[in-house]
Amino acid sequence: MSKVALELCINGERHEVLTEPHRTLLDVLRVDLGLTGTKENCLEAECGVCTVLLDGRAVNSCIVLAVQCRGRAVLTIEGVAEHGALHPIQQAFIDHGAVQCGYCIPGMILSAKAFLEERPGATEAEVREMLAGNLCRCTGYQKIADAVVAAGRAVAAGR
Ligand code: FES
Ligand code: FES
Repeated sequence: MSKVALELCINGERHEVLTEPHRTLLDVLRVDLGLTGTKENCLEAECGVCTVLLDGRAVNSCIVLAVQCRGRAVLTIEGVAEHGALHPIQQAFIDHGAVQCGYCIPGMILSAKAFLEERPGATEAEVREMLAGNLCRCTGYQKIADAVVAAGRAVAAGR
């Protein structure tokens, strides 16, 4: 199959890739660009480990074609920390002991980031509903929900 040249904006940086048009954003991020913080698992939009932000909106990168991302801003977990400092959501996950194996965490953090920008004062019930598309096999979700609620307060306070 013939390849297409693609210019992608990932974490604020331009990247040029040459790829077959059927390849997913997840595949291009991990294989072509070495951005392996975005995880892969089900490959059918069920588990959320591949979540990235596309123009600020959380998407499952396993079902987004790379060619659909032309001219759009992609944010992966590698771009969440700002100026070398952890984002308040990342810090809250650490402070609340919300990480066990860690496999689901990049997707959780990106889903939470998009959500809290709209709803920083979200309740635990709202956070749990938002996280319904991000599965975790380890934690039981309580500490993750606590971390996201606390992070919302930090985001609202501008920290
Ligand atoms: S790998 Fe994309 S949702 Fe599971
Ligand atoms: S911390 Fe292991 S899958 Fe969530």
